[in-house]
Amino acid sequence: MALGGALSIFLSLCLLCLLIWIAWERTSKRGKLPPGPTPIPVLGNLLQVRTDNIFQSFLKLQKKYGPVFTVYFGPRPVVILCGHEAMKEALVDQADDFSGRGEMPTIDKNFQGYGLALSNGERWKVLRRFSLGVLRNFGMGKRSIEERIQEEAGYLLEEFHKVKGAPIDPTFYLSRTVSNVICSMVFGKRFDYEDKCFQNLMKMINDSFVEMSKPWAQLYDMFWRIMQYFPGSHNHLYDLLEELKDFITSRVKINEASFDPSNPRDYIDCFLIKMHQDKSDPNTEFNLKNLVLTTLNLFFAGTETVSSTLRYGFLLLTKYPEVEAKVYEEINQVIGTHRIPTVDDRAKMPYTDAVIHEIQRVIDVVPLGVPHNVIRDTHFRGYFLPKGTDVYPLIGSALKDPKYFRYPDTFYPQHFLDEQGRFKKNDAFVAFSSGKRICVGEALSRMELFLYFTSILQRFSLRSLVPPAEINITHRISGFGNIPPIYKLCFMAR
Ligand code: HEM
Ligand SMILES: *[C@@H]1O[C@H](CO)[C@@H](O)[C@H](O)[C@H]1NC(C)=O
Ligand SMILES: *[C@@H]1O[C@H](CO)[C@@H](O)[C@H](O)[C@H]1NC(C)=O
Repeated sequence: MALGGALSIFLSLCLLCLLIWIAWERTSKRGKLPPGPTPIPVLGNLLQVRTDNIFQSFLKLQKKYGPVFTVYFGPRPVVILCGHEAMKEALVDQADDFSGRGEMPTIDKNFQGYGLALSNGERWKVLRRFSLGVLRNFGMGKRSIEERIQEEAGYLLEEFHKVKGAPIDPTFYLSRTVSNVICSMVFGKRFDYEDKCFQNLMKMINDSFVEMSKPWAQLYDMFWRIMQYFPGSHNHLYDLLEELKDFITSRVKINEASFDPSNPRDYIDCFLIKMHQDKSDPNTEFNLKNLVLTTLNLFFAGTETVSSTLRYGFLLLTKYPEVEAKVYEEINQVIGTHRIPTVDDRAKMPYTDAVIHEIQRVIDVVPLGVPHNVIRDTHFRGYFLPKGTDVYPLIGSALKDPKYFRYPDTFYPQHFLDEQGRFKKNDAFVAFSSGKRICVGEALSRMELFLYFTSILQRFSLRSLVPPAEINITHRISGFGNIPPIYKLCFMAR
């Protein structure tokens, strides 16, 4: 009896010590996280972080806590990096530590850690190396991809001619043409602009990007553990991505049916070759799940980002007709009116190059960046980030860093020009992020933006429906993405 009592007292003491030790461990680790507003139970920092303009909330917190701070998304601490210097020190100087992908609750259920963009560890390394290699061989940075873009731009110009200068919403004109460039690389074919299935895919991609950027999605990032059991927009987003996934699966089946390993036609074929080679390896990353989800990453990222940039870019150019005029002047001087633009022209067109950089800087397509994660216990700027801590590199705060850009909030192409009018690089231009996760499509996107802007402006001038001074360029929605206002404009044949 006495012995049993002593034993239970002893066990209780052990349990108490264990609990104190766990609590101490957690607070001591949290104590070394960067400073930030005090979270309240369950809600975290919901009171300080407004879900309808999360980026602005972060900028406010930066003023109070400095460029590196912690906020609680519900129960989960997230470290925010503001400004070019903090982002560079993390993503470049400590590239490996910060190379993990963080949680993205709104889409994680569709991907479950598979596919290039949302995977980690060995899987991510294998898929990234493979994808970069294949895209390069299909012409990324080479001749053939340039030709694909030029051909596709030609189809778009035909469409604009058909409209005969009537006002149009450019959204789907641009997304179809841009999407076809990536489609030709991953599916080995382009789609007719009138193809109903293709049009539906473009609508779904537009809808998904908007859904991901709504306040609801930001709320879901914080409280998904509870919200997942309730109805709401997140279910709509889930369904959209599942439908896009089904489309990719159907394309894989089409490839399989006519598969010839000695003659790979596209990204999917190259992946199928690897799958056949590794058939007997149960641990291979070359499986159907990674194929479908990586292809979805490329298809989605390859469509929405570039076409949003063009669409938002044309809005800026109608607001600043003097900039459009100067770009046209340069096109006229360097390319003339008889031949189509080539990638080699860019080096001779510093003004146009500067304008495109400035468009990307001002519109800031993914202001919060894509969440990262530290893959090991990490010391950073005197703080301690335990392995697995999520990190948001706020791309928008670098693109508007007052230390690097004279007029951070103004459209000012001279940000990228020196006194002699030569193109001037700026290290804080991180629209594609930096470090080990830097956008896989950077080279492709830069070619597309240059060739589309120049091909269109060579043949058409832009006319807005309201006086330029009245054009409102403030984004309509800002969350994961900055969504431009809905607008119409006229493409007038020159
Ligand atoms: C204007 C166009 C584009 C912009 C602004 C952009 C921006 C970004 C950003 C900010 C990231 C996150 C990097 C990070 O984790 O820190 C990213 C990742 C990625 N982008 Fe892009 N992107 C663009 C076009 C493209 C295109 C055309 C493709 C398709 C080839 C693409 C494919 C990807 C992929 C697969 C990732 C994930 C990389 C990884 O997790 O390792 N992007 N992009
Ligand atoms: C894109 O999707 C959003 C959200 O569903 C919608 O409001 C918008 O009208 C769409 N854009 C176009 C051009 O249809
Ligand atoms: C411009 O649009 C934004 C977002 O739609 C809106 O909040 C703002 O009031 C508008 N500004 C003007 C001057 O109309």
